[in-house]
Amino acid sequence: MQEKGAKPAPKTWSGRFSEPVAQRVLRYTASVGFDQRLAPYDIQGSIAHARMLAKQRIISAEDLADIERGMAQIGQEIESGQFKWSLELEDVHLNIERRLTELVGDAGKRLHTARSRNDQVATDVRLFLREGLDTIGGLVKRLQGVLLDVAEPHAASIMPGFTHLQVAQPVTFGHHLLAYVAMLDRDRGRFADCRKRLNRLPLGAGALAGTTYPIDREVVAQALGFDGICENSLDAVSDRDFAIEFCAAAALLMTHLSRLSEELIIWMSQPFGFIRLADQFCTGSSMMPQKKNPDVPELVRGKTGRVNGHLVALLTLMKAQPLAYNKDNQEDKEPLFDTVDTLTDTLIIYAEMLASLQVDSAKMRAQAERGYATATDLADYLVKRGLPFRDAHETVALAVRHAEAQKKDLSQLSLAELQGFSRAIAPDVFDVLNIEGSVAARSHPGGTAPEQVRLAIKAARARLAQESPQ
Ligand code: ARG
Repeated sequence: MQEKGAKPAPKTWSGRFSEPVAQRVLRYTASVGFDQRLAPYDIQGSIAHARMLAKQRIISAEDLADIERGMAQIGQEIESGQFKWSLELEDVHLNIERRLTELVGDAGKRLHTARSRNDQVATDVRLFLREGLDTIGGLVKRLQGVLLDVAEPHAASIMPGFTHLQVAQPVTFGHHLLAYVAMLDRDRGRFADCRKRLNRLPLGAGALAGTTYPIDREVVAQALGFDGICENSLDAVSDRDFAIEFCAAAALLMTHLSRLSEELIIWMSQPFGFIRLADQFCTGSSMMPQKKNPDVPELVRGKTGRVNGHLVALLTLMKAQPLAYNKDNQEDKEPLFDTVDTLTDTLIIYAEMLASLQVDSAKMRAQAERGYATATDLADYLVKRGLPFRDAHETVALAVRHAEAQKKDLSQLSLAELQGFSRAIAPDVFDVLNIEGSVAARSHPGGTAPEQVRLAIKAARARLAQESPQ
């Protein structure tokens, strides 16, 4: 940022206004404080544009050479932190263009031929987000790999499965983790889908209506790795639906991670004691010496609110904007940048945290023994012996009530006691009242039986290995 007292560079469109813009308004309207992050994409886009202009003989080969040389230097200046950003020049685009003109003279002034900042910024944001999407897609995949690594040795570890956070039926811990692998598969699919729609070139749209120069948009699209061009110039400069889509997919991913985080927090609490997180993901309390708090999962849960907020911000930003470009769109950047950053950090930290997860399978198993988790198995047992399901349900409810009064689990009742509820009950009933038997019996694709979990892990690994990085 330019220091106070430094001579402000004249505004590019200063002819439109006779009064100097008040400092506050300058700060209010400038985006250079945050959009300088787009500089690498801005330079990349400008070079592709300039090459096309030269190819189409709209500018000369010498001009192109000057522009390329100037841009190379600017890139270095920015990277090394020497570049002087100026608030007066409003945004990243005008800052770079001004410096280019300082460095190479008239060629710099010709760069903006057949272009507007409107199609320029739309291109920059797409390039930025495309890279963000690729990074995030790869990180989600990595996290899925870690989840599979944790799940595999626990394909047969039994834990209580919950509905309403009440013990429901025993499940395997591996199976539980695979639920998140499935969620993340869909998240990755949403990011990949978003990338497809995003990957079109706005340049050539000009300010809104296109340009009178004989441009070649396809060649620019190709140079920048776009799959094609935005078809309508008004749409190209105005819509930010690709950013909204990304934020929606991001909000869902964070929502999934917030659920897992909530579970980690519960599992780590003393009454559960199912897991331990490595110290580096926790902090102590300044007052209570015994405390080890699950800060990282709590923050993931908290940052979900922040990411959801960004989605709402972008939706609200876009709502009711008349065509085509409006300055409102300048406000798309901070929420978008922060969403990319939050996801990137979250995914990297999360993978590390899960990789160091310690699991107390004995404790999990002990809790699965409580809460009459095999009651459904007993009902199913009776159904297989001819009782209608509703009657079996009722019979087991009575048996559970009896066991509860005795402070016993169903499996601790004697055969005679159990037979008191139904004469269909035989000694083999204890096979189904045992939690290993309960999970092993649910052996179909998507079920919790250890053999199914092992198959599902194998299939998921094969899927991950097959798919491209995003
Ligand atoms: N800084 C602006 C943005 O982020 C660039 C486009 C400005 N266009 C304009 N006509 N004022 O959207």
